[in-house]
Amino acid sequence: MKFNFYGHSCFGMEIGQTRLVFDPFLDPNPKKEELLNELEADYILVSHGHVDHTQDLLALAKKTGATIVSVFEITEWCSRQGCEHVWGMNTGGSHSFDFGTLKLTSAIHSSVLPDGTYAGNPVGFLINTEQGNIYYSGDTALNLDMKLIPMWTELDCAILPVGDNFTMGVSDALKAAEMLECKKIIGVHFDTFPPIAIDHIKSKEEAALKGIELILPEINSTIEI
Ligand code: NI
Ligand code: MN
Repeated sequence: MKFNFYGHSCFGMEIGQTRLVFDPFLDPNPKKEELLNELEADYILVSHGHVDHTQDLLALAKKTGATIVSVFEITEWCSRQGCEHVWGMNTGGSHSFDFGTLKLTSAIHSSVLPDGTYAGNPVGFLINTEQGNIYYSGDTALNLDMKLIPMWTELDCAILPVGDNFTMGVSDALKAAEMLECKKIIGVHFDTFPPIAIDHIKSKEEAALKGIELILPEINSTIEI
């Protein structure tokens, strides 16, 4: 399984032949224009409605023909904006797709679409595939519901926000890793704006003390999970 980081909380995952893109927001990426032309996706997963997760959603969905998977309020909004392929779900629900099983998990955050439309509750994604099991929490505070994840699934990797201010910071993300019983964390939602800038060396040292591998990916880098 391949993880491609596009900046902020936008990343791609290649699971077998299937290409997933999460939370499309390419503004921080110096190759934004090329990516908007070249990026291919079979599914686009959206954790919540905020602009730093949806800015490039409609353009990318229309260009690729990808199926948008998100909470029902967001997929309905996408349909009204002319996106043909959507799959609406809600917190706690699972569905089997060709890449594996996807469950929407709870997140503690807020959610509204850029035009002010109510976007339902924010969510995370638990993905079980033949190639491994991944959890992306979306924007969230540390929360006790994370203890449910290892009751469902043994994780290979968790993708968590680490930038603080709007979401968990590094210390809480490391507590999340303990609750998730997961030793491999990919950090997202850091360094994009001044309030979420983090000290990389200090963060990795803090993780190492707990025996956790904290990866802070470079924009346009690829990680094999
Ligand atoms: Ni947000
Ligand atoms: Mn955000």
